[in-house]
Amino acid sequence: MLIAGNWKMFKGPREAEAFVSAFQPPSGVDVVVCPPYASLAAAVAAGLSVYAQNVHWEREGAFTGEVSAEMLLELGVRGAIVGHSERRQHFGETDETAARRAARALEAGLAVIACVGETEDERERGETEDVLARQVSVLPNGERIVVAYEPVWAIGTGKTATPDVAAEAHAFVKTLLDRPVLYGGSVKPENAEDLLAQPDVDGALVGGASLDVDSFSAICRTAASIRS
Ligand code: PGA
Repeated sequence: MLIAGNWKMFKGPREAEAFVSAFQPPSGVDVVVCPPYASLAAAVAAGLSVYAQNVHWEREGAFTGEVSAEMLLELGVRGAIVGHSERRQHFGETDETAARRAARALEAGLAVIACVGETEDERERGETEDVLARQVSVLPNGERIVVAYEPVWAIGTGKTATPDVAAEAHAFVKTLLDRPVLYGGSVKPENAEDLLAQPDVDGALVGGASLDVDSFSAICRTAASIRS
């Protein structure tokens, strides 16, 4: 089971260092944090397993604002998120660019958390499986990639998919790519147990609740108590 904390654009180097120093990951669960680029080095130095929030598909070049897999590896970063819905919504990320990022990261030796998920409109129109099929089918397979099912309507909204909704989507994703699937979208200490207890839920990608040491610790302990 993997619990990943996606800090989004929160925590500069000082706060990242303070968080990692105060946080003791429990045994029996894999835990990573995904700080903003500016705080990656501080989090690595403080001793936790660290992933970036994105990665580019070229080694280097004229790509202002981007960071390559080699640069992340040099810092001691072990993986990267790709295709997060906030990248898709606000920064023009597409299925194709997310897949290119994932393929390059795997090739370079990084682990990948590839995010997929439908919007509220898509779910209401009955298009959830079509959207997931489109997003997942372009992803590379490999030992170091996991998928994160993050229904867009559940991210940062306080609305969580019911365990049944999550279980159904996870099972469907696994028919497309036989890799572990994390759930993401308003995971909190109060709902973590119900979600993580579902058979096809292999961990969580946690946003808001990963910013606080106590709530992130509680989610990690719940995961450790369910399965190792
Ligand atoms: P949230 O974010 O837990 O704050 O909903 C999850 C994510 O965007 O990865």
